[in-house]
Amino acid sequence: MSWVADYEYTWAERISMRALRTCGHIPKHVAFVMDGNRRFARSQQIDKIEGHSRGFSKLADCLRWCLDLGINEVTTFAFSIENFKRSSEEVEGLFNLARDKFAKLLKETDRLNQHGIRIRVIGNIGLLPLDLQELVATAMLSTEVNDKLFLNVAFSYTSRDEITQALETVLQQGNSFISGSNISERLLEECMYTRHSPAPDLIFRTSGETRLSDFMMWQLSGSVLYFSNVLWPQITFWNFLASILAYQRDRYRLEKFRRAEQIQSAQLARTSDFHSERVQQFLQSMDEDRRKLLVRLASSKMC
Ligand code: FPP
Ligand code: MG
Repeated sequence: MSWVADYEYTWAERISMRALRTCGHIPKHVAFVMDGNRRFARSQQIDKIEGHSRGFSKLADCLRWCLDLGINEVTTFAFSIENFKRSSEEVEGLFNLARDKFAKLLKETDRLNQHGIRIRVIGNIGLLPLDLQELVATAMLSTEVNDKLFLNVAFSYTSRDEITQALETVLQQGNSFISGSNISERLLEECMYTRHSPAPDLIFRTSGETRLSDFMMWQLSGSVLYFSNVLWPQITFWNFLASILAYQRDRYRLEKFRRAEQIQSAQLARTSDFHSERVQQFLQSMDEDRRKLLVRLASSKMC
């Protein structure tokens, strides 16, 4: 199964897609919490890893829908740090699925490049087995020139860990560049895994759960939250469409809130000297260190 499905639209789906594109505002960034894979597996009497694998196929459909609708960025919750607490059999099964999918990704980089898709894995990848870290790093580097659709795969991720890691980066790497008065919301935000992404406009969680489960809690304060009872492997184009309609209905209320947030963040950035040369140099060196780590991991894969 490719990362971008060859989805065959029905006539009605095609017309609806066109209407949605021409009549309403399309979100720039959509986040998915792909929940309900094991309940789906139980209902079909299949193995839970097969349920996760069917979940991956739906992700590929969703990517196709997002691409065709003109959405620029997709973030998907594939493995929470909390998931390490599941049985070792399931964790290993999920890692094997990821190994298989990232290895396939490397074989289809031409197709991803053709669509302009850049893959970024966001999360504490140091917690993963080394071979998976190397695979993930290679996948990220092999699509890094693309900029039509950004796919952020949250793997070994929780929001609380992301914030803690950002703080650690400031304290450990910021020493020679910044002082305490430079620490601001804006600086922390720029040290997160999502540094290069706008906040999601819409988050879609399946399976009837109405929680965020430690996913992008910092980034979602001004997003439209959409919850559906459908289990992730059963999501259809029409469920997806309903979420976009909900976004189009609710976005006006949120825009006022977002504008106020932006004004406040700009004020905080000014008072903490965020735009100073020292702070910008720190961020640049952080980016360089992060890339160097990927290159090191990718090259040890080749050895
Ligand atoms: C939540 O359903 C889903 C997960 C923990 C894993 C999701 C992973 C995939 C769909 C595969 C993605 C792989 C890559 C490489 C992107 P659940 O297990 O919590 O199911 P339940 O809520 O029914 O128990
Ligand atoms: Mg669940």
